[in-house]
Amino acid sequence: MSFFTTPGDDELLHYITTEDSQEMEKLFAAARSAREEYYGLDVYFRGLIEFTSYCKNDCFYCGIRRSSPCARRYRLSPAQILECCRIGDRLGFRTFVLQGGEDPWFTGERICRILSLIRHEFPDHAITLSIGEWDRKSYEDFFRAGANRYLLRHETAADAHYGALHPPAMKLSRRKECLYTLRDIGFQTGAGFMVGTPFQTPECLLADLRFLQDLEPHMVGIGPFIPAEGTPFAAYSQGSVNLTLRMVALTRLLLPRTLLPATTALGTLAGDGREQALMAGANVVMPNLSPQDVRKFYSLYDNKICTGDEAAECVRCMSLRVRATGFVPNMSRGDSKLPVTADLQVV
Ligand code: SAM
Ligand code: FES
Repeated sequence: MSFFTTPGDDELLHYITTEDSQEMEKLFAAARSAREEYYGLDVYFRGLIEFTSYCKNDCFYCGIRRSSPCARRYRLSPAQILECCRIGDRLGFRTFVLQGGEDPWFTGERICRILSLIRHEFPDHAITLSIGEWDRKSYEDFFRAGANRYLLRHETAADAHYGALHPPAMKLSRRKECLYTLRDIGFQTGAGFMVGTPFQTPECLLADLRFLQDLEPHMVGIGPFIPAEGTPFAAYSQGSVNLTLRMVALTRLLLPRTLLPATTALGTLAGDGREQALMAGANVVMPNLSPQDVRKFYSLYDNKICTGDEAAECVRCMSLRVRATGFVPNMSRGDSKLPVTADLQVV
């Protein structure tokens, strides 16, 4: 089989479900060469700033959901966020990723103000937002204020499954609409999904791949589901590392120019989970720049790793891991090789 021109559903389902180790190795090797064709051996570093653990949403899987009795809440001030960027810049980062729950304190206006401050001080850095669902006008404002990239995982592209993971007020159609809007505005857009969430079937994962083919995002975040205390899914099983790696590899083969992170969730389930993801076609890592004293409170799931180390230590550790796996740490902006469709002209 030529990996992969226009695979049919059966072929994709076969690779989603295979347990054959030789077949998996072939899949991972093909994914590595697809990645190498566009990105060489470089692994791009992004500085992650988790700036608020408040959230108005109540996703059933998420450790910082609104009604979790266990979640500890914090929010960084704009000055603290800027300070994280300065520390990141000194460590060599050229991409800042601002992620948080949907925290009503951070109004669109406040977000724009923070973006302008960062953009003013760091004119050449990439700024990524990951702050959930907003209307088109707000996304346009964020773009004009200096954000270049936006991460919004679709979580699952199967409608009934989406309904089983979220309260009725949250809709897959809305999530998808946000993603198409972001892409149309001109953001480098990131979608993504969890592997092994309760009630997920191979057909759900097939729907994820088909949706990604249609959206053609610049980035795709794929991580295993990990139960979180204080959530309705606390007692469910975690996702499989192996299946997550297969989904990373299949995504790389279907979308060779996309940027694929080796996620912290994979590193949480297996000591070498991120290295295994690099060997399955991933090419991004996201060391943590959040202040040390709040890091453990951004607990999306139990036993999250990298909550104790200083930012500089996280960078050193990740660089060593990347090198030891045979890849090359790259601190540059590392834009996606997929062109952006720019609706908005920013002057
Ligand atoms: N609020 C933003 C949003 O909704 O996109 C960003 C924050 S959200 C916590 C970031 C991602 O964490 C989610 O898209 C989800 O895929 C992941 N996540 C949440 N709970 C998780 C869990 N229990 N296990 C693994 N990943 C989880
Ligand atoms: Fe909002 Fe998880 S429920 S970030």
